[in-house]
Amino acid sequence: MATTARPQFARSLRLGLLIAATIGVATGLFAWQQVNDERRIDLEDVNRRAHVLAQQLSRTVEKALTRPDAQAREALRPRLDGYSRLIGYAVFRPDGRLVAAGKAVAEFSDRLEPAAKRAAQTGADAHEFTRFQGAPIHVFAIPLKDADGSAQGVLVVAHDVSYIDERATGRLVSYGFWVLIVTLLAVMLVVGTTWFTYERPLHKLADWMRRLRTENVSEAPPPGLPSALLRSETDRLAASFRAARSTGRRLSRAAMHAEQVWTRDRLRAHAIHALGEDRQLIVVSNREPYMHQLRDGKPYMIMPAGGLVTSLDPVLQACGGVWIAHGGGDADRETADASGRLTVPPDDARYTLRRVWLTREEEQGYYYGFSNEGLWPLCHLAHERPVFRAADWEYYRQANQRFADAVIEEIGDGKAVVLVQDYQLALVPQMLKAVRPDLRVGLFWHIPWPNPEAFRICPWGAELLTGMLGADLVGFHLQQYCNNFLDTVDRVLESRLDWDHFAVELKGRVSRVRPFPISVQNWAERKVPAGEDLAHQITALKAQHKIEGAYIAVGVDRIDYTKGLPERFRAVGRFLEKYPQYRGRFTFVELGAPSRTHLRRYRDHIAQLEALADEINWKYQTNGWKPIHFLAAHHDAKTVHAFLRMASMCIVSSLHDGMNLVAKEYVAAQESHEGVLILSEFAGAARELADALIINPYDTEQFADAIRYGMEMDPAERRARMERMYRTVEEHNIYRWAAGFLTELAATRAAALDEAT
Ligand code: F6P
Repeated sequence: MATTARPQFARSLRLGLLIAATIGVATGLFAWQQVNDERRIDLEDVNRRAHVLAQQLSRTVEKALTRPDAQAREALRPRLDGYSRLIGYAVFRPDGRLVAAGKAVAEFSDRLEPAAKRAAQTGADAHEFTRFQGAPIHVFAIPLKDADGSAQGVLVVAHDVSYIDERATGRLVSYGFWVLIVTLLAVMLVVGTTWFTYERPLHKLADWMRRLRTENVSEAPPPGLPSALLRSETDRLAASFRAARSTGRRLSRAAMHAEQVWTRDRLRAHAIHALGEDRQLIVVSNREPYMHQLRDGKPYMIMPAGGLVTSLDPVLQACGGVWIAHGGGDADRETADASGRLTVPPDDARYTLRRVWLTREEEQGYYYGFSNEGLWPLCHLAHERPVFRAADWEYYRQANQRFADAVIEEIGDGKAVVLVQDYQLALVPQMLKAVRPDLRVGLFWHIPWPNPEAFRICPWGAELLTGMLGADLVGFHLQQYCNNFLDTVDRVLESRLDWDHFAVELKGRVSRVRPFPISVQNWAERKVPAGEDLAHQITALKAQHKIEGAYIAVGVDRIDYTKGLPERFRAVGRFLEKYPQYRGRFTFVELGAPSRTHLRRYRDHIAQLEALADEINWKYQTNGWKPIHFLAAHHDAKTVHAFLRMASMCIVSSLHDGMNLVAKEYVAAQESHEGVLILSEFAGAARELADALIINPYDTEQFADAIRYGMEMDPAERRARMERMYRTVEEHNIYRWAAGFLTELAATRAAALDEAT
């Protein structure tokens, strides 16, 4: 699960806003105080000025007041007008009678009387504010006395002080602006500092730790951690992880012996040792490796499509044993003995196939219902809603019990190693251990394991996990699925998890959880045509299906909505639209094996694909050439091989796939290292086949461009890529997979016995 940076950033932002709000309020209050102080100083200033002006004029006014009013007015007139902010003067007798006033002052002389009277009565200076026509006016009055000290009159000075308020408002705006700037800077500083110094490095550290645990990363811890102690501890953590991993790799390499390539014979010899001489090998799966169907009234044998059969048949052929599976073919009963047994392969008996019979209701509820409408979409992230029905669950339990009973019956009183296969039989391990705790049981899960959140929606999740944990060893294709599985167990069950050893202890029994990327056998071992026979077969197939075009690409799939087939067809259409020069030259052949067609979703999917292929063909086809050949039918191994050899390119575009063995089958068919593989990043195989052209199937443009790139790839690059992939598949073949699984299972059991004694 990828961690997201957004919540942490939001936290930094919140912190920043909080600190900024505090700073904003504090600086705002300070600014307010400052403006008030400055206003007070301005007022004191005007008071002082008024006092000085009054003093300057007082002598003249005192002299004038010794005369009668008319003469005094006449003498003072030229002296009482103001200029600029000084509006002017007014002179009053001690009783408040106006003697004379400047022109501007005369208009509001009545408003000066209260100050004049107060000065006359108290004999002291008086000042106050009044307003005239909305403007604030400062009034300053001084009492005047004659030579013998008795009150003679009052001189009033009036100033327009609107400029003080204007100045205060201006200062307020200017301070407000700076408060805003300081606040914004504070937000940026706090957010930036906490984000870059703490949140981002810690987020990166968490991400790195997650990848260290889940993806085997080799890079150093992220730089810029906020504390030296943290830095040194993460360095140590990385080093110990790397050491543990390389020890693990060394041990597994030693366990797998020194030679690189595992063969059928080598596995056979190894199996005898790993199983123990007296133990037989039992494989149990839903799908049988050889199915008999009626054709023209006669039984006809097919090997069903799907990775499980492709991978396990060679193992059984190498080791011998019994494969227990559902007899689902309509001629299965008549081709088996009374107890459902037959030896296979039919022309070269190597092991026993034991068929289990299910009623129609059981097949419906257990296989189509719970397994394929419930668990299949649950485990694949392909945007298909899982359906869980109580009745299906009951049939699932019942059918699992039938398979478990068949296993117990086959083993009798003997000893055995039982390899339970896949999601259809999750309860079988526990059912086996309930009656035979001595059995060595492994479970291999062939499809992805989802994260705990996705798994939670399964109403019987706890029972399912308990059933699986009956196995001594639980295998998945990828480490990531193992991690998801342990996370899920941790959330759902009361159990003890040992992350160091990837093990779960449930009710005193330990199950180990390990990745085993499954693989294929070499084509040379299968009886497929080679040389001239192959060339004739290819010519015949091209003629039969009217395949024209110099460049052929192929896809081979069970027709399933997880395989990304509509996305693939659309990418082919887009490729031809974008690069018209390839029309008539590029042909895509899809070998689609109809699957689970009893379910409507699967029938609809076939119809959707046919319509889409028709639509694209209709748009681009010319006389004799069409871009998409959708061959929806069962194709045997020889035919599949011939198409894989015929094709210059193979396209695998799964939306989600545990492994996808078609990718490996194609690579294994490229002995001369010529082909190009386009591979979805959402298929497990992409981890091992990094030299494929890795695509996101949902990205049609990128997908179409990858087709072009593959076609035009420099031959040297193409061969180098394919050769590396060929070596990978050759070395990590199905025999190595089986040997690894059996070795680990034997070790698991031995460890358990050691602990018990
Ligand atoms: O890759 C293996 C697999 O996908 C199994 O999980 C599945 O059982 C099989 O191939 C094919 O499906 P079915 O058995 O339903 O035909």
